[in-house]
Amino acid sequence: MTLAQRLNAIPNHERFGIGVLSGTSVDGVDVGLTRLSGSGERTRVELLAFQTFPIPKDLRARILRNCDKNAATLPELSQLNILVAELFADCILRFLKRYRPKRIDFIASHGQTVWHNPKREPIGKFRIGSTLQVGDGSVIANRTGILTISNFRSAELAFGKEGAPLAPFLDFILFRHSQKNRVLLNIGGISNLTALKANAKKEDVVYFDAGAGNVLIDKAAQRFFQKPFDRDGKLAAQGKVNQSLLRLWLKEPFYRQKPPKSTGRELFTDAYFEKLLADASGISPTDFIATLSALTAQSLATQIERFVLPNMTLDELIVSGGGANNKTLIEMLKTAFPKSRVLKQDGLTDNPIPAKAKEAVLFAVLGHELLSGKSASMQTPALLGTLAFPPK
Ligand SMILES: Nc1ncnc2c1ncn2[C@@H]1O[C@H](COP(=O)(O)OP(=O)(O)O)[C@@H](O)[C@H]1O
Ligand SMILES: [Mg+2]
Repeated sequence: MTLAQRLNAIPNHERFGIGVLSGTSVDGVDVGLTRLSGSGERTRVELLAFQTFPIPKDLRARILRNCDKNAATLPELSQLNILVAELFADCILRFLKRYRPKRIDFIASHGQTVWHNPKREPIGKFRIGSTLQVGDGSVIANRTGILTISNFRSAELAFGKEGAPLAPFLDFILFRHSQKNRVLLNIGGISNLTALKANAKKEDVVYFDAGAGNVLIDKAAQRFFQKPFDRDGKLAAQGKVNQSLLRLWLKEPFYRQKPPKSTGRELFTDAYFEKLLADASGISPTDFIATLSALTAQSLATQIERFVLPNMTLDELIVSGGGANNKTLIEMLKTAFPKSRVLKQDGLTDNPIPAKAKEAVLFAVLGHELLSGKSASMQTPALLGTLAFPPK
């Protein structure tokens, strides 16, 4: 069925929502159009169209600069809040021009994270964590003329929780299996995972950010090979993993911290990368990138052993995110989990949505849940998201 035909047959109880985001990798703006109905465990979602729009180079540099606490400036951050909204609105308008859907009920925008520090710190009589996504919802709503939901993370912080990862809600709805124990692993800039034992209930789900996904590998590819990332893991495949370096790097305390937990570029900074590079003096660039790839795989493996395997066996490790295209990384995961089936999400016979659109679909589902008056938070009763209305 074509998109136009699909859109013509809309029962009234359905919503059409656009999910939009730019992830930690700042590699593109993902826009996905979904058809949604039901709510909670009975949510039904279908992806109707998806496109990733490139981020202009200078804008990307501006975003990355302002994710770094030593380089960010207040004037640029304030500008970015509007600029990212303008960029998202522009991508959405181009998307709508191309796909011409008859009806759109809402946009759900994650925005762009510039800072995420959920660790609660005492300040006066308050103890607070914080997270900041730029890309103002009001600008998007007024530019597109569509009701916009944004700011999905901060409500959980009011409960002293993390505000991240948010993907477990979607994983729970879409990937729970009646017989198989599954881990859903998304390898973006940062990696996150959701452990779903067979027939899991919401309270059974174990989930957490697991650390660096591609972010360190990307930095090495840029530094030594002038490439934005290690395409298909070809560079790492030419190198040899340095086991003693790997053991040293695995001492990072974040990997021992109990879930739920979240992290971001604030931990895996340029300075962090420089420290790893200093540890690795004398080893070749390909060995360095191979060892960084092994760090991504092994840090995941040790955390799955620590926090997941005590509660369930692992039948399937289902990988999504850009890192799923890194063949060397996938091979390393297969070696780490010889008894489990390690596969890309798109290789599942019951895959409900293309892996590349997963996060866009996630935010559309979260927006739909808010409009249904339901909480999509895994650990709090918070309703996630803030509404911004289009002009009269
Ligand atoms: N063919 C590929 N081979 C290896 N890595 C890839 C490939 N394609 C994408 N990636 C990695 O995936 C990242 C983007 O992944 P994505 O899931 O969009 O992450 P984020 O949510 O952080 O934006 C890129 O920065 C790159 O590191
Ligand atoms: Mg991305």
